[in-house]
Amino acid sequence: MTHAEPRTFPEGFLWGGATAANQLEGAFDEGGKGLSIQDVTPRGIMAPRTPEPTPDNLKLIGIDFYHRYAEDIALFAEMGFSVFRLSIAWSRIFPNGDDEQPNEEGLAFYDRVFDECHRHGIEPLVTISHYETPLHLTETYDGWVSRELIGFYERYVRVLFDRYSSKVKYWLTFNEINSVLHVPFMSGGIGTPKDELTQSQLFQAVHHELVASALATKIAHESYPGIQVGCMVISMPIYPLTPDPADMLAVMDADHANLMFSDVHVRGAYPGYALRYFREHGIELDITAEDRELLQNTVDFVSFSYYMSLCETADPAKKVRGEGNIMGGIPNPHLPASEWGWQIDPVGLRVVLNQFWDRWGKPLFIVENGLGAKDELVVVDGVTTVVDDYRIAYLNDHLYQVGEAVRDGVEVMGYTSWGCIDLVSASTAQMSKRYGFVYVDRSDDGTGTLERYRKKSFAWYAEVIRTNGASLTRS
Ligand code: BG6
Repeated sequence: MTHAEPRTFPEGFLWGGATAANQLEGAFDEGGKGLSIQDVTPRGIMAPRTPEPTPDNLKLIGIDFYHRYAEDIALFAEMGFSVFRLSIAWSRIFPNGDDEQPNEEGLAFYDRVFDECHRHGIEPLVTISHYETPLHLTETYDGWVSRELIGFYERYVRVLFDRYSSKVKYWLTFNEINSVLHVPFMSGGIGTPKDELTQSQLFQAVHHELVASALATKIAHESYPGIQVGCMVISMPIYPLTPDPADMLAVMDADHANLMFSDVHVRGAYPGYALRYFREHGIELDITAEDRELLQNTVDFVSFSYYMSLCETADPAKKVRGEGNIMGGIPNPHLPASEWGWQIDPVGLRVVLNQFWDRWGKPLFIVENGLGAKDELVVVDGVTTVVDDYRIAYLNDHLYQVGEAVRDGVEVMGYTSWGCIDLVSASTAQMSKRYGFVYVDRSDDGTGTLERYRKKSFAWYAEVIRTNGASLTRS
């Protein structure tokens, strides 16, 4: 028996960065755009909404990508990006979400963005719905609780595929679709407060999203053979707090709640453990025969975000929820954490890549990963920059583990680092929680010139891309 050479990052591996419209575009009321749920959540996901957009909402201006996209894409090209993940703001295309006709000005904006990417040899990777449901759909239909959302989403998707299928090859149907169980407003545009929402309503919303996602895949496969559709989930390896089998069972249950979403996307039907959960929790769902058929349109690849791992236990006395993450879970005593309490676990990324590959055998795309940190602008040799060695260390260690997973035989399509240019945080709506290779001069109080500066990590990432990962070091 001969042994194959250990593989490093495959040729054609897609290197780049990731963003979302509501966190960087700004121009919240320009170009015919309607309001999205983000325009009325100035303090982030956990804080209350406002009736109207208020000036303290940093997302209204974001980092002004709407007007500065050409400059920003040129910076990405300078780093050597071959892929750029962005989302389309649904309310730019359908201002209310349920309009009959799309808004041409919104469509033309993304034409310009995609053309700019291609001018630089960058492939856009597009999230169709990234935590930015049109506000009208929340207020009038209670978001994805309503079956009518499937039809509105279908109309939106058909317009996008029709217009951009020659410019966009990779599509993600919903950002972190499994987060709807934890943040139903932000993820599912569901206006009913979480504590008033019944389990049946919540899982009905889940079901509608899963059907809509499968419908998008069906439309793509039937009419646009050049494009590929992936699901997008939060990945979060969960470790038992102790070797007690009861803790392991708690891990299994928590894993199931996360993995069900991709199980449906990849296998085309609800797994047995989900049906049992519905049965035993009195969850009655309206699932039609047509829905079941639609779900069989399975994805081409699985994409995911990875920021941290968690622990789980069956012992109520030890169930102390960790800070800063939307999934809950218990902190791991072996791991350090970011300034926002997100635990740092590069090995967990290798674990998750192996787990997903073993489970689904589908190509995997890491579409979010990174360190949110406070940065300080300094002048080094006359150049204004940020010496972000902490970010370089974080990304090096995670990417090194991606290389390990590739050597394990996992098929990885690409990697887009989250917030490749500083943008407004989703969970806290701050500017000071920065992820970028590019610093944007804007503060939490909204002041700043919006000038862009290359951080130290900018040149570091360019070298990683140039060497296709060979410059990464074992930590
Ligand atoms: C993911 C989201 O959950 O995490 C992004 O898809 C988000 O929208 C990212 O920005 C990082 O989270 P935060 O809260 O630090 O911005």
